[in-house]
Amino acid sequence: MDYSGNEAVVMKNVCKDFKVLNRHEGLKGSIRDLFSRDYNTVSAVKDVTMTVNRGEIIGYLGPNGAGKSTTIKMMTGVLEPTSGEILVNGKVPYKNRTENCEKIGVVFGQRSQLWWSLPLIESFKLLRDLYMVPQKDYDAMIDLYRSLVDIEPILHKPVRQMSLGQRTLSDILAAFLHNPPIVFLDEPTIGLDVSMKAKIRELILGLNKEKNTTVILTTHDMGDVDALCRRIVIIDKGTKIYDNDIEHLKNYFGSYRTLKLQMSDGAWEEYLIDEKTTDVMDVIMEKQKEKKIKDVKILEISTEEVIKKIYEGSTK
Ligand SMILES: Nc1ncnc2c1ncn2[C@@H]1O[C@H](COP(=O)(O)OP(=O)(O)OP(=O)(O)O)[C@@H](O)[C@H]1O
Ligand SMILES: [Mg+2]
Repeated sequence: MDYSGNEAVVMKNVCKDFKVLNRHEGLKGSIRDLFSRDYNTVSAVKDVTMTVNRGEIIGYLGPNGAGKSTTIKMMTGVLEPTSGEILVNGKVPYKNRTENCEKIGVVFGQRSQLWWSLPLIESFKLLRDLYMVPQKDYDAMIDLYRSLVDIEPILHKPVRQMSLGQRTLSDILAAFLHNPPIVFLDEPTIGLDVSMKAKIRELILGLNKEKNTTVILTTHDMGDVDALCRRIVIIDKGTKIYDNDIEHLKNYFGSYRTLKLQMSDGAWEEYLIDEKTTDVMDVIMEKQKEKKIKDVKILEISTEEVIKKIYEGSTK
């Protein structure tokens, strides 16, 4: 496979199939399953080709079950592709697992990779030793962390006593600690409140800027995408359906407007309108007949709505 030495990730015609046993009900069924050859094949990732360049933050998006986590597991070397080729930092991940681990950082939103009963700072020191990070690089990294986020309240707390937000913050800091050239973030803001999400986004952006770290991010939160990603890749049912700048996608939906109407009872109603086919004024007049309108706002289409339209279009 062509590799210039510059790409963080190269994937070529990557497929991943899972064989799943067709389960039968009841005790008799379970016994039958023990000896069964009755398998179904699930194609989780189908023929995905893409390149991620150094220093990029890409949003790897798609509806539930699209194959995002499966792709990340292949990139991190946890899973071997059924067919196709992957290079991460120029190496085949599943064949060079130890080496690959040293050059990547990973955060899976729902579970922590840290030592539960240890204060965070002790986890950091263990990671420093594990990855053989020189003391001066380690100190510089902690200083960088201090400049990007207030780490004092969590540094001496055991992970098990942390809130979900603090734990996520800690996980992200831990993933970047050995300064890997690439970090995978699988739904890092899941379950977090608005202000913690903002903090996490700022941190990721700051680390990417300071260290030129490549970030591959999966999320269902379009706020994450707006704050972090210029380029997005969308997959649906395992197949790549979009790969370009987010702006490009918004231009494609350039004639769409979000019309927001505040009705006399104070409630806001929202409509997505294609100006090519519908006149905004017509809609306003029509609504005015039903109820009195107090206020009107017309906005450009949001990332959220663009992505929703893509998902809807592809599943139809
Ligand atoms: N170990 C496995 N065995 C069998 N099927 C699996 C396995 N892991 C994933 N799948 C299936 O592969 C498909 C893709 O799953 P994946 O977890 O990659 O989706 P995802 O895009 O991360 O979704 P979500 O947004 O819900 O996290 C799903 O149909 C899932 O059921
Ligand atoms: Mg997933």
